[in-house]
Amino acid sequence: RNYRSHTECRGDINRLNTPFLAIYESLIPAEEEKEKQKQLMALLDKHVKKEWPGARLFLYGSCANSFGFRKSDIDVCLAMGDADINKSEILLRLADILKSDNLENVQALTRARVPIVKLMDPVTGISCDICVNNLLAVINTKLLRDYSKIDVRLRQLAFIVKHWAKSRGVNETYQGTLSSYAYVLMCIHFLQQRSPSILPCLQDMEITYSVNVDNVKCSFFDQVEKLQGFGSRNGEGIAQLVWAFFNYWAYCHDYANDVISIRTGSIVSKRAKDWTRRIGNDRHLICIEDPFEVSHDLGRVVDKRSIRVLREEFERAAEIMQHDPNPCVKLFEPY
Ligand code: CTP
Ligand code: MG
Repeated sequence: RNYRSHTECRGDINRLNTPFLAIYESLIPAEEEKEKQKQLMALLDKHVKKEWPGARLFLYGSCANSFGFRKSDIDVCLAMGDADINKSEILLRLADILKSDNLENVQALTRARVPIVKLMDPVTGISCDICVNNLLAVINTKLLRDYSKIDVRLRQLAFIVKHWAKSRGVNETYQGTLSSYAYVLMCIHFLQQRSPSILPCLQDMEITYSVNVDNVKCSFFDQVEKLQGFGSRNGEGIAQLVWAFFNYWAYCHDYANDVISIRTGSIVSKRAKDWTRRIGNDRHLICIEDPFEVSHDLGRVVDKRSIRVLREEFERAAEIMQHDPNPCVKLFEPY
């Protein structure tokens, strides 16, 4: 492999801000999609409350963390309060209840890694997956959404990176590449590490929000309206940041020793986490620490083959950002 780290970006980089922002604008959902989501949630809530008065429904994932594209499906979590429940039973019952309404394609997938009920609502046209008691996902959704309110460049960068990953086929966990959630964590980490930093480390500040879920203490600073203007000492535009993001993952990240950690706002060592050896299927070839489930490496899906695919894609993107006359087209070319 031909390693070429570029310490300096092309001179005309800011010329690319306009086309990158146009791509971002074309991907963000329209306001009316929010209304339709609320409508479907109200319908689901009505059915759930009737059967289980103490239960609650939460949106999580890209429909609620602000990193969702237009016309996405929604992810819903049914919180049952009691941890000692039989998820399969609940899901089968839920599917029965929802089938009796006008919902289409209602299916309980009780044997999936995350068991869910799937359905489609013909009124709003929205498809939805409902899981049970996946509360850590609800909390990490809030953390991501709170980060996105601090500086708009996070949302811009994450949309571009997700769009690139989907176009290039490297957003498929079942094929050993990374989840959208992992890519957003990579973007947050990257903006925390810019100098001057564009994002703070919310888990390393005064605690204004704290919950315990599944024996994990989740606490962080969530009064993000007080952090408006946090990144304004850094004047980098979106094109510069896209360039630097890919340059970092192509040439600067130390894959052998480093773990990126938005929890600490910095790098931690693989040695400190004991992520140096393969244990079971966890190979730790690219290490991305979950902000709350700190023993979870979001890179654990990556194997010997897919790490090569990923790194070649990072290098391709970095080269395009450095040299290509029309990066906004080339970057997203289907693979
Ligand atoms: N999640 C998680 N741990 C993972 C993967 C996902 O907790 N290893 C949770 C996160 O709350 C995440 C949600 O599941 O926001 C959905 O994950 P994912 O499908 O990766 O991301 P989306 O944001 O839904 O992205 P997409 O637009 O690609 O659907
Ligand atoms: Mg999703």
